[in-house]
Parts: sequence; structure tokens; C-alpha cells
Amino acid sequence: MALAPLRRVVRVAPIAPDLVGRALLGRLARRIAGRSIDTATGPGINTRATIDADPRATVAALLPGITVDQLDAYEREYLAVDHDLIQRAGSRELPMPSIWRTEHGTGLALYTLARALGPEVVVETGIANGWSSVIFLRALQQNGRGRLHSFDVRDDVGRLVDPAERERWQLHLLRPATLGAFDRTIAGLDPIGLFFHDSDHSYLHMRLELRMAGARLAPGGALCSDDVSLSHAYVEACEELGVMPRLLVDGHKASGFAVR
Ligand SMILES: C[S@@+](CC[C@H](N)C(=O)[O-])C[C@H]1O[C@@H](n2cnc3c(N)ncnc32)[C@H](O)[C@@H]1O
Repeated sequence: MALAPLRRVVRVAPIAPDLVGRALLGRLARRIAGRSIDTATGPGINTRATIDADPRATVAALLPGITVDQLDAYEREYLAVDHDLIQRAGSRELPMPSIWRTEHGTGLALYTLARALGPEVVVETGIANGWSSVIFLRALQQNGRGRLHSFDVRDDVGRLVDPAERERWQLHLLRPATLGAFDRTIAGLDPIGLFFHDSDHSYLHMRLELRMAGARLAPGGALCSDDVSLSHAYVEACEELGVMPRLLVDGHKASGFAVR
């Protein structure tokens, strides 16, 4: 096992021995049985989640009361945010690769959920240049309420966020960069109305971070994640929470959405 995954295992083992056991057994099974283990065991992903290609369908399924007029209005607002972001990204020096940004359909689903649910507390992990942060901050601005708590391990994040958008923003730099520090911080917040994972996508990190956020999710709150196709971490976290996820196939990756 390479050094980075080993360090992760040692860090996570005291707080989540079940997840470490699962990760180690999975590695062992793959080593013995090769890739065939993925197809020979467990139910197919389509029995554990619904797969969408249209973000409006994703949101409409999660919020059955939402009307077509509301979906249209939120999409118009989002297109204006997206336009501003593209302009800013073209005119600012950005330290992180643009490929890391939240993709278009995922951004629309996140914006619409943030507008429709009207959360008091939004938490995101993984800021990079701040694409998703701006999406949330503009939705909260329109709502006239709520705060965004954004977590990262680097201090050169959020260059896309304008000063006028920072009023509802709280930036948390994780020092030490551990899940324990993340858990202690969210324990001090009110229940989370919308959570979005977009930080370290390794199975163990993602699975435990989603477990921690899920445990603090408000009734009716949304548990969302980017890059859900990299492992079963998101689908498992939703099963643990008793919610059925929708997986949105976006441009280059898939994102996950569920409402409690
Ligand atoms: C894919 S980018 C986030 C993209 C961002 N959501 C956007 O829309 O532009 C991943 C970010 O996660 C951060 N990161 C990596 N490991 C982390 C950890 N353990 N906790 C919090 N953030 C982490 C990286 O520094 C990077 O800024």
C-alpha cells in the first residue's frame, strides 16, 4: 500500500473502524479477484440510486412541490451567476486548475436546491477558486438569509468570490487538516440545511466526511457530493442515512443529491 493511503487509514481507524475494515477488505478482495469482484458482488448501482442526465429532473424528483415556473426562474438566476463566473475566470489570475470547478448541470442543481430549500446553514468542503462558493453565496443573497461555511486546507482559495458576496461567507482553513477538526467545527454550527462534498475524493475521506455531515443534517436538508462515480462512498453514506440518492451524469463526472 502506498504511503498516503496508509497514513489515511491510521488517521481514520480510531474514529471509524468499520470504514477502515471495509476499505481494507475491498483492497484485499480486488487483489485476489481482480476487477471481476466489482461485477460479481453486490447489487448494481441502479438499484441503489436513480441516475439522471437532466439537473431539472434531479431537483424536481427531490422536491415534488416545486413548480415549472419556479424551476424556470431559478435557472434564469443561475445563468446570470454562471455568466459572471465565466467572465471572472477569464480575467483573474487563478491558482488552481479550472477543471476542478463545479460543472454546469451540477451547479444548476445546487443553486436550485439552495434557493428552494432556503437553508440557514450551507456547508461545503473543497473551495479551490470558489466556483461552487459563488453559486451558493448568490443563492443565499437572493434568499436574504443563511450563511455558507466553506472548508479547505489551502489558504489561496476563493479568488472568484467578490467582496460584495463575502457578507454571508465563513471560510474555515482546516488546521490540522483532519476530519476530526472538521467534525468539531460543524458540531458548533446549527443543523446543516445543505451539504456539498468536493474535497478529498478518496473512499475513506469521502465516506467519513459524508457520515459526519449526514449526522448533522437538518430534517429536510440536502446531502450532495461531486465526483460520486469514483467509489461507492456517496451511495453508502445515503444508505446509512436512509435516503435514496439521485446521481446526475454531468459533463465529465457525476454528482449526487439526496434530501432527507
Ligand atoms: C475539486 S477542488 C474544489 C472545487 C470547488 N468546489 C469549485 O467548484 O471550484 C478540491 C479542493 O479540495 C481541497 N481539499 C483537498 N483535501 C481537502 C481536505 N481534506 N479538506 C478540505 N479541503 C480539501 C483542495 O485544496 C481543493 O481546493
